[in-house]
Amino acid sequence: MKLVAAVELDNVSFEDQQPAQVDSLADLLKGLGCAPKQINPRFFYDARGSELFEKITQLPEYYPTRTEKAILKHNAEDIASLVGRHGVLIEPGSGNCEKVRLLLDALHPSAYIPLDISAEFLSASAWQLGKEFSWLNVQAVCADFSGPWQEHTQLPAGKRVVFYPGSTIGNMDPASARAFLSGLRPLIGPGGGVLIGVDLQKSETVLNAAYNDAQGVTAAFNLNVLSAVNAIADADFQLDMFSHQAFYNTERSRIEMHLISKRKQTVNVGGIPVLFEQGESVHTENSYKYSLESFAELAATAGLQVQRSWCDDGQLFSVHYLGVPE
Ligand code: AVI
Repeated sequence: MKLVAAVELDNVSFEDQQPAQVDSLADLLKGLGCAPKQINPRFFYDARGSELFEKITQLPEYYPTRTEKAILKHNAEDIASLVGRHGVLIEPGSGNCEKVRLLLDALHPSAYIPLDISAEFLSASAWQLGKEFSWLNVQAVCADFSGPWQEHTQLPAGKRVVFYPGSTIGNMDPASARAFLSGLRPLIGPGGGVLIGVDLQKSETVLNAAYNDAQGVTAAFNLNVLSAVNAIADADFQLDMFSHQAFYNTERSRIEMHLISKRKQTVNVGGIPVLFEQGESVHTENSYKYSLESFAELAATAGLQVQRSWCDDGQLFSVHYLGVPE
């Protein structure tokens, strides 16, 4: 175990499990070989993509982040009355650990376990958090949450609660979302819970605006995936030869993001030529939107029960506490 931080803090530990490198080129070629073509949204988050996503969260049209933060802030005590105090709080994909700050004083966990695949970002965020909350035991784990990280990590005793904000679950198709939720059950055990943020179905105008902002930040974020692919797969995508498209698919209750080829062109991806027709789409992301009922149904099919939900007055966003039914 090593601590990657400028100054060691007694309350912060860092465990680097060095997440396995996935075969990105094979994944990319598989997606580009599908009809319609696809790029896995995990490729969005290179350094520039993460910066652009951060900008998206501050856009006037992008309501999810500020709405979820307000829900957490205003309901922290109520959330704590359900979640309980002094538990073990586990956050997969913890990023900059920003949202958990809104709950720490109310929840007062005995330990906070942020998990992320980016070692540098995780250690810096964990260190900063440990500095701000000197009473908090921060046990950071650099690992792929979907892998066997627990085999190598000694979790402290106490009620386990998984914190999964940001409607990240919305980027999974319903079958993967169900599998993800159901996979949390062995981790949390019979008495544990899941505190999760979920974006809600709403007017198409509001949804379409959130993914087609006036400043073009979401368009830049979408197009940037091609730069990421160029770097990872030694490809030669020209970003100005594609345009951003995002729309709400009412039937499937999801925002779809695509990149549309402006002309017929061939792009080399890792030495393999990939042909794009003029107007052809590459599907880059889905962002599913739920109603309170449809999310409760999804959770139920994963063996979890909604114990309470919190929303903003405009019913834009929701936060749910899920438990294992007795
Ligand atoms: C990370 N995720 C929840 C965002 C969303 O809204 O689905 C990603 C995003 N894509 C475009 N804008 C934001």
